[in-house]
Amino acid sequence: MQSIRGKHAVGLDPATLARQISGHQHLLIDLGTGDGRFVRHVAATQPNTFAIGIDLCGGNLRRISRRAPANALYLIANAYAPPPELHGLATHLTINFPWGDLLTGLLGHDERLVSALDALCRPGSRLEVRINAGALAEAGWSLPAANIAVKHALHSAGFAITAPPRLLDARELRAFPTTWAHRLAFGRDARALYLQGLKIGDAKIDNS
Ligand SMILES: C[S@@+](CC[C@H](N)C(=O)[O-])C[C@H]1O[C@@H](n2cnc3c(N)ncnc32)[C@H](O)[C@@H]1O
Repeated sequence: MQSIRGKHAVGLDPATLARQISGHQHLLIDLGTGDGRFVRHVAATQPNTFAIGIDLCGGNLRRISRRAPANALYLIANAYAPPPELHGLATHLTINFPWGDLLTGLLGHDERLVSALDALCRPGSRLEVRINAGALAEAGWSLPAANIAVKHALHSAGFAITAPPRLLDARELRAFPTTWAHRLAFGRDARALYLQGLKIGDAKIDNS
């Protein structure tokens, strides 16, 4: 498993990870964490939580990882194939404003991504997904169609949707502690689809 601290990618062995995590009541995994700001916010405001940010791209994590709190960790990995050492650890999974194949995998019900979401979470874990309307429009999706498609993927990954999906507005995006939320809040289309779920069981992969 590759973690990042400042300019350096550092190999992290399972025993060290277990030691770092131990003693924390909750474990957050933030997929597509970008510059890692959300993970830093959670780690700083919730000392009982160990927060892990995962992104394909380590470059944006250099700055924040240099001075990460002891209960935060940044990993360079593909959300489609997260390190197996993380399997079954998450009590809270977030995907905030995905783009690229993280977004298309959710919309297209990609079996590898569905399996990864399933594998990371323990039963009863919380899931939150926020997808900006502009990214959906660029990918050719309307909000109602995206809502149905993403719910289908999440259900296949073993999550029940626990609240009616809703649209976050500019005020809510401004208050949300990620860089993309702030960018969107001041952009042309300040809306994001917000889905919440709870892990109830194992994945039911459905290829229909
Ligand atoms: C729009 S940015 C959002 C960043 C952050 N969540 C925020 O709210 O500021 C989307 C992020 O998803 C990451 N990403 C896209 N596909 C990914 C994948 N397959 N695995 C991990 N990260 C991915 C990108 O590298 C990028 O950092």
